[in-house]
Amino acid sequence: MWKKISFNVKITSVLRGSDKMNLPNYKEAMKRNKKYDTVTYSIDKELLNKYSGKKYFLKTYGCQMNEHDSENIKAMLEELGFIETDDYEKSDLVLLNTCSIRENAHNKAFGMLGRLKHLKESNPDLIVGICGCMAQEEGVVKSILNDYKWINFVMGTHNIYRLPYILDQAIETNNQEIEVFSKEGDLVESIPVKRDNGFKAWVNIIYGCDKFCTYCIVPYTRGGERSRKKEDILNEIKTLKELGYKEVTLLGQNVNAYGKDLYSDYGLGELLEEVAKMGIPRITFMTSHPWDFTDKMIDVIAKYPNIMPYIHLPLQSGSSKILKLMGRRYTKESYLELFDKMKKKIPNVSISTDIIVGFPGETEEDFNETLEVANYCKYDNAFTFIYSPRENTPAAKLKDDVSLEEKERRLYLLNDTVNKYFLENNKKLEGKAVDVLVCGLSEKKKDNYYGYTFNNKLINFTGNTKIGDIVKVKVTSAKTWSLDGEICE
Ligand code: SAH
Ligand code: SF4
Ligand code: F3S
Repeated sequence: MWKKISFNVKITSVLRGSDKMNLPNYKEAMKRNKKYDTVTYSIDKELLNKYSGKKYFLKTYGCQMNEHDSENIKAMLEELGFIETDDYEKSDLVLLNTCSIRENAHNKAFGMLGRLKHLKESNPDLIVGICGCMAQEEGVVKSILNDYKWINFVMGTHNIYRLPYILDQAIETNNQEIEVFSKEGDLVESIPVKRDNGFKAWVNIIYGCDKFCTYCIVPYTRGGERSRKKEDILNEIKTLKELGYKEVTLLGQNVNAYGKDLYSDYGLGELLEEVAKMGIPRITFMTSHPWDFTDKMIDVIAKYPNIMPYIHLPLQSGSSKILKLMGRRYTKESYLELFDKMKKKIPNVSISTDIIVGFPGETEEDFNETLEVANYCKYDNAFTFIYSPRENTPAAKLKDDVSLEEKERRLYLLNDTVNKYFLENNKKLEGKAVDVLVCGLSEKKKDNYYGYTFNNKLINFTGNTKIGDIVKVKVTSAKTWSLDGEICE
């Protein structure tokens, strides 16, 4: 049994730098530290297995950064003795690792909180925690303080390594613990990790984002750009290789900025090259901003056969006017120049993108330019979004002047345009044999497998193999979102 929960609100005062208290504060979050240290994670012995046998349920929203943070969170909870469950109704601890990127990400998390409130009414011993990007939002934390007093703890993105202490404190004191640093602190190495599988791994190379695109909340929720030391990254990948991992994704909100804060002559191109030489069968990276995509990076991707010919290159808009309002630092023309260079230099490269419709001031003409670029680029995949104003961002102060109906119409038209190229590109693979990393059993057909091609295309296939292997698969038919095939060797 936990101790009885009371609803006192206490704000832990963990002093950090000039931060006065640990509630999120956007003014602080906008500042950028020039200096930070790298420190090593450790946990007090008294906490190890202290909660042995208790069950936890962790729900992750948002991007790969959050997915990977969740792998760290799981490992820390298991150090405390917790066991994972996929049934939140039967768990002792429910933790939501949240995302702020668009309104609907918020709604999903708040919807889940509604269900948890009910659950907590019938089970007052349930511990509920919130972490991730929403925890960094002033508005969200205010609303938790006022209206969600039953939530046991809130932990920001900059201090996930403090989870064992924050959680323990919340349980021991019965108080609502809120520990959110507005600004990033030191870079913490060696946080334990429970990876989702034994063949594909995420590896953080850089944290935060300094781009401040006007619509985006990430630079406030994730702090300034901080690169991990190359030795730490290479050591992690060396271990992954020894463990038999087949694919490594170098992760960051803006991986192209890797190294700029640490080195004068070592960036993502150099890092990719060193990783490629280590011999992991598949290497990829995510996400790259078109702004600092260098020729060196393109050359390295083209040169090494184990770097996947797959690049996610967010466009956001095809109108230079809107790109300027978005603060994207490139024009339609410079984007297309980069795109053409990639297509020319990297054989069979697949390029995917992100596009936002309905940004303030987007006219029919601006939108048509987006369609033109989409028709020119014939992307292999595209993630399309309706603009969603985010708290405290510069764009949220602009008049949101495109009606919802019009935004929906544009999204529909855009999807219609991009989807036909997914099919067209996939059709080119029919009859060909492609390398596939086997990722699991297909949900639809029990004896089928699914996996990803070397160009990161989803494929369902039949044949004898095992999860985690790389096999040759003949593509038998192409669909818009996936391929079908059969193992050919
Ligand atoms: N760092 C990545 C983006 C991460 S967010 C990059 O710059 O490429 C993923 C995508 O969400 C963005 O590319 C953008 O298309 C979308 N997005 C971000 N903020 C948004 C907002 N306020 N409304 C709608 N879509 C948004
Ligand atoms: Fe957001 Fe722009 Fe940074 Fe991407 S590069 S995370 S869109 S601010
Ligand atoms: Fe969402 Fe935060 Fe990622 S806002 S997209 S979880 S960095």
